[in-house]
Amino acid sequence: MALTPTFATRPPVADLTARIGGTPLVAVAGLEGVPEDVTVLGKAEWLNPGGSVKDRAAWGIVRAAEAAGMLGHGRRLLDATSGNTGIAYAWIGAARGFGVTLCVPANASAARLRLLEALGAEIRLTDRMEGTDGAIREARRLAAAHPDRYFHADQYANPANWRAHYHGTAEEIWTQTEGRVTHLVAGVGTSGTLVGTARRLRERSPALEAIAVQPDSPYHALEGLKHLESAMVPAIYDPSVHQRTVEVASEEAHAMARRQTRRGLPVGWSGGAALVAAERVARGLTHGVVVAILPDGAERYLDEPLWSES
Ligand SMILES: Cc1ncc(COP(=O)(O)O)c(C=O)c1O
Repeated sequence: MALTPTFATRPPVADLTARIGGTPLVAVAGLEGVPEDVTVLGKAEWLNPGGSVKDRAAWGIVRAAEAAGMLGHGRRLLDATSGNTGIAYAWIGAARGFGVTLCVPANASAARLRLLEALGAEIRLTDRMEGTDGAIREARRLAAAHPDRYFHADQYANPANWRAHYHGTAEEIWTQTEGRVTHLVAGVGTSGTLVGTARRLRERSPALEAIAVQPDSPYHALEGLKHLESAMVPAIYDPSVHQRTVEVASEEAHAMARRQTRRGLPVGWSGGAALVAAERVARGLTHGVVVAILPDGAERYLDEPLWSES
């Protein structure tokens, strides 16, 4: 399949927000049991300026807030995040001149926390046992206590999150596959990626099947993903946009990320999970184009001891 070139030479930009989106769609090799007439493609979201898919949601949320006059005049952006959205808010805030306060579960990777600090964000660590739900509760508490100090971005409830994918990710996938995408595979954290991308792609092609990827247990090691049965369900979550859920074990996702990284596709753990699910979906087809969202890259997890396993 001819893939649309996405990185043309472009003129200078005021700041790197102009380079959010337009990520490559890359052929995924090394999957097992995929029939010849089935193509699996990965959307390489770590090539966004902040290194993850969350640049899209954060920028959508910031743009909407700036337009509504809710940021600036000393007001800080406040949110709960497992890491990637925080990095996105932090660099966008640094580039555009507003402060960022983040409630982050204490089990976020050390490399992410160091990057947040380097970008000048204020970090409030929350109980690791409470996961992202504990961080959400702390952000709500702070926002209620100091309504003048903070703009509560609330990525779990803010429609600008899924809209960024509706107008961006989905349209890019449609153009890059020349309308041939048949299956979308995306992990669920806030659900913004899945909801926005699937909603738009299914308007374009009602037969398209959207597949939600979830960890198979509440005690998983897939940063960014939620086990919805046991977690607070995000307000923007809409169960009607996807047709299937695939549950993935952390070990399977880690092994897939290692395998793909060794093949030159350096995905993080949730990208590994998406590719495990895409492989399962692809095996059950006779023909089709399966697109998996690969939210971030292997580099973000280099301080974890899982890379040397076979
Ligand atoms: C690594 C990673 N994967 C997947 C996701 C899920 O994306 P979404 O919040 O759009 O559901 C996130 C969200 O933070 C993430 O950081």
